This record gives sequence, C-alpha cells and structure tokens, in this order.
Amino acid sequence: MASESEFSVVAEGLRKRYGDKTALDGLDLAVPRGAVYGLLGPNGAGKTTCVRILSTLLRADSGHASVGGHDVRREPRKVRRRIGMTGQNPAVDEILTARENLRMFGRLFHLDHAMARRRAEELLSEFSLVEAADKQVKTYSGGMRRRLDLAASMILAPEVLFLDEPTTGLDPRGRSEVWDAVRGLTALGTTVLLTTHYLDEADKLSDRIVLIDNGRKITEDTPAGLKRAVGGDRIEVVVSVPADVPAAVKAVARVTRGVGPETDEEGLRVHAPVSDGVAALTEVARTLQENGVVCEDIGLRRPTLDEVFLRLTGKDKETEKGTDA
Ligand SMILES: Nc1ncnc2c1ncn2[C@@H]1O[C@H](COP(=O)(O)OP(=O)(O)OP(=O)(O)O)[C@@H](O)[C@H]1O
Ligand SMILES: [Mg+2]
Repeated sequence: MASESEFSVVAEGLRKRYGDKTALDGLDLAVPRGAVYGLLGPNGAGKTTCVRILSTLLRADSGHASVGGHDVRREPRKVRRRIGMTGQNPAVDEILTARENLRMFGRLFHLDHAMARRRAEELLSEFSLVEAADKQVKTYSGGMRRRLDLAASMILAPEVLFLDEPTTGLDPRGRSEVWDAVRGLTALGTTVLLTTHYLDEADKLSDRIVLIDNGRKITEDTPAGLKRAVGGDRIEVVVSVPADVPAAVKAVARVTRGVGPETDEEGLRVHAPVSDGVAALTEVARTLQENGVVCEDIGLRRPTLDEVFLRLTGKDKETEKGTDA
C-alpha cells in the first residue's frame, strides 16, 4: 500500500453516502509529496466530497485517509495545521481592505507584524490586487474576491493545498495568476490536489490526472498518457500546391501501415493516425524533402484532454454497460 512518507495524500476505499445517493464508492488516491494532481470528473462525480473528507470538513462512512502523514479522522487538528484550502479559511472580512485582510490572516497564522506585512504585499502583487489593496472588500467584483480568497489560503506555503475549482468565474488573466501562484507554491514543496472543469487548466498544472465518475476512479495517468490512451497521435502534412498532394499521401502512407491517409476538403492537408509519432514525423519529413515537396506545415496532433474526458465519461460509456474499469 501507499507509504505515508512518500505520499502527502493517501485515500483508501473512501465511501460516502447521502441517503440512498452514493457520493464516493471506494475511492483510492495517492498523491506523492510535492506533486500536483488534478481530480477530474463530471458534475456529481464526488470531487468536492473527496476534497471535503481529505480536508477534515466531512467524515467518510468508511475507508481510510491521511494527509501529511496524519489520519484525517483521528488527527483532524494536525491535518488542518498542514493544509490550505480555498473556501475553508474564514471568509475574508467585507469591511476590511484586502491589505488589512491579508495582514490579519498573517497574524492568525502566527507571523510577526513585519512578516505579516511583507507576506501581504507579496500576495497583493502576485494576485494583482495592489491597486485595490486599500478598498473595502465589499466593493470588489466576484473575481477580485476570489483572488483575495486564494491569496489568503496561501499565506504560508501549506504542506498540502486543496483547490476545489479555484478559477471558476475568473477571467483569463485571473486564471493565469492563480496558475502562477500554484506553481510558486509547488516550487516551495507544496503538494496540490485540484479539481477543475477547465481541462486546459488540469493539463497545464497537473503532473497526473485522476478521472473519477460515480464516486470511483476510472483512470489515472499523466495528461500526455491519457491522450495517448484515448486517441494516439496523428501526423499532419500541409503542402502548398495541389500537385504535391499525391506525394504527401504516399509519404504518409509509408508510415501508417496501410491506414489510409485522409485529405481534408481544401485538399492540401493530409493526415493519418500514427503509433510512433516522432519516428513517423522524421521519416515523412525526410521522404518529402527527398522528393522536393515543399511543406507549409508538418506536425503531430495529439488529442486534447477534452476529448479524453468525453470519451471516458461520456455517453458512449453509459451505453456500453459494464465497461467501467
Ligand atoms: N450535502 C449533500 N446532501 C445530499 N447529497 C449530496 C450532498 N453533497 C453532495 N451530494 C451528492 O453527492 C454526489 C457527489 O457530489 P460532489 O459535490 O462531491 O460532486 P462533484 O464531483 O464535486 O460535482 P461538481 O463538479 O458539480 O462540483 C452528487 O450526486 C451530489 O448530489
Ligand atoms: Mg464539486
């Protein structure tokens, strides 16, 4: 079983029911120290339930979980001291300004006055709140408030940070600020478990992705591994003149073992699935060059995480009964 010195977050067989609704149905999870794990799944899959159990806000019916080496059920206070969580911190004070709030949280986390001030300034600048720093929080937009909430959860680099949909409702700049802040914390050694419905976010931030549905893990892999498993790479060649299309088709066909290359409507783009993408790319590029074919573009296309998500949790799975792995 997962050793607790190697893993910051360990869950084994977590179950949770609400009445006759099963929210978690034997969930296993092991997040290595310092890693960023993305917990993905459709609405109602059990992500928030899992995060709430791990952060001691909710009790599992059965199963075992530990965070930072401490049992969430038996040592909740030790766990709480080691974690940060969006939404868990006492809501930021509406009457105070952002600067005052962050200094206050710093003091609550036992920083001395000078440290609390310094940390507040750092976080204000990291989350682009400098200009609004002296305005009362009640005048803030939803996105600004969320950024302040996140900043407050990052006062101290926690051992483990739980982020349940940290960027929902943020504009692109706000999202990228959150990503930078998360990366900053991981550089300091923080382990992160994050849920999100933005798959580009999961792709960018996560070392590994755990996909859950109906309270159970469907699969776990790196973002790249998931994409490979679902679709594999496609090689794509775009030539500049129609006369070169047959040569491109021939060159691509050589590396796809009979899986016929397709041409798109405009007729200049030739593409086909390949197993060893890099080797295929090299081979096709060389063949084309030898034949004097000029390419506008040549490259590998990988399926997106959105495609992975839909394939593994989508309707096709529901109709193929009993295919859950
Ligand atoms: N307090 C509650 N009372 C009753 N049922 C609940 C409660 N909290 C969650 N559930 C149910 O448990 C299941 C899992 O919910 P959970 O909130 O963990 O899902 P989620 O993966 O976080 O979904 P979302 O992506 O919508 O946030 C859902 O079917 C939900 O309706
Ligand atoms: Mg949720």
